[in-house]
Amino acid sequence: MDKLHVLDHPLLQHKLSIIRDKETSVKEFREIVSEIATLMCYEATRDLPVEEVEIETPVAKAKVNRIAGKKLAVVPILRAGLGMVDGIMTLVPSVKVGHIGLYRDPETLEPVKYYCKMPKDIAERDVIIVDPMLATGGSATAAITFMKEYGCKNIKLMCILAAPEGVKRVEDEHPDVDLYVAAVDECLNDHGYIVPGLGDAGDRIFGTK
Ligand code: PRP
Ligand code: URA
Repeated sequence: MDKLHVLDHPLLQHKLSIIRDKETSVKEFREIVSEIATLMCYEATRDLPVEEVEIETPVAKAKVNRIAGKKLAVVPILRAGLGMVDGIMTLVPSVKVGHIGLYRDPETLEPVKYYCKMPKDIAERDVIIVDPMLATGGSATAAITFMKEYGCKNIKLMCILAAPEGVKRVEDEHPDVDLYVAAVDECLNDHGYIVPGLGDAGDRIFGTK
């Protein structure tokens, strides 16, 4: 699908190899997730509109391009999505942040919503939803639906790792949404974990296991 962007930059692939390793510490995992988010944000903001303005360099007048006042919001899916927010703020320091709390019921694998708080003007903002993992796609598609209910029109989804099942679900339910991933893995296992994946992203970011 032309809405799927698999970001195969060597720096991203190298960092991904480190967080896949089960020996990687919580500290390093957390730092690298943030760095990956920065690199992915660079790609996901590639189509931001620019406008020409005139400035003076120390040498001469010059026409230069600046970002054309586009309003952005990043929306992490709690918990694991929180690990990607700082990395995005590195590149877009003024970004507003909305939060969606979802957890996946371990039996049904269906997302359960427990928290939601958005900037007041969210409907006027371009939104990047972030979550390291796109497994069945239940959480991501629910989050996209919430953002559409808030009136958001331009929504992107940024996940570090995806399963083919999750990619297909996003594509089927939200064909208007651009999806940025660093890799699409082989499959899901019986517990809905991405294979080979990197394990439970929330636990590895927050050290809860
Ligand atoms: C993980 C992950 C996604 C979801 C992906 O969260 O961060 O939100 O699972 O799975 P899905 O595509 O099948 O919905 P989890 O439910 O483990 O919650 P947590 O972030 O609080 O650990
Ligand atoms: N959530 C995770 O954290 N990891 C997976 O592999 C699937 C869902």
